[in-house]
Amino acid sequence: MYTTLKKVLQEADQLHMAIGAFNTHNLEMVPAIIRAASNQKTPVIVQTSEGTAAYVGMKTLVAVVTSLAGEYGVDAVLHLDHAKNWDTIRAAVDAGYSSVMYDGSALPFKENILGTKRVVEYAHAAGASVEAELGTVGGTEDGVVVHSDGVHLTDPEDAVEFIEKTGIDALAVAIGTNHGQYKSKTSIDFGVLESIHGAVSKPLVIHGGTGVSDEDIHKVIDRGIRKFNVGTELLVRWNITSRTLYSSNKENTSNRDNVVPALDAITQIIEHKISLFKNI
Ligand code: 13P
Repeated sequence: MYTTLKKVLQEADQLHMAIGAFNTHNLEMVPAIIRAASNQKTPVIVQTSEGTAAYVGMKTLVAVVTSLAGEYGVDAVLHLDHAKNWDTIRAAVDAGYSSVMYDGSALPFKENILGTKRVVEYAHAAGASVEAELGTVGGTEDGVVVHSDGVHLTDPEDAVEFIEKTGIDALAVAIGTNHGQYKSKTSIDFGVLESIHGAVSKPLVIHGGTGVSDEDIHKVIDRGIRKFNVGTELLVRWNITSRTLYSSNKENTSNRDNVVPALDAITQIIEHKISLFKNI
């Protein structure tokens, strides 16, 4: 069933696990994400950048995720990732996205609070959930430089005040991960994560999941991470698989022959991640 971020993260908290949030770049990846969740029998979050939302169309994405959630019997959330633009956020909520992330993390603390509060009021009135970010996760996300001024880890005391004043449903934390890190694994500051987890009761979100090692996945879930974002690893696998096929298959081959193996490859990665996110 099509559902909200708030609901799936509450369930994840009770089960002491994380829900996978997988970035799609097109419509093709969406069935692969939902099928993988169905195979693993867990809820799932399909997330789009503002760029993907504009490319595919917000209403189309809502219709497709809603339909596939029903077809596969999966609790699925459609989430707008890293939105900075009020008009885009409002359009996503109006189109039926069940969750949005307002990313005011590059702004001064007070402006981040005010921008986030405005989004929370609008989204909650429509029944949608809100994620926001405090601190800076570095790197590049869907071609957009997320932060160019260095990385600042989330301050636990700021997190308490931020949550109280904004009413968000989930907090993205900066604990040493970077967006788009796929050639190496990152070094996570578990101490900072523990302090944030000890200070707040809201579900925490990790960005830059591609750069997190399998063994660290359990450690961050044990310290409060309930939404786990993975994007680059899927994109890279898709590109490598389909590039090889596009160059070896004849030009009049159905492009399904070049794309379906790429989807199968990302389905495998998603299933592996979800099996770790169950934290068993
Ligand atoms: P990666 O692309 O590094 O996996 O990060 C995904 C993400 O955090 C989306 O916001």
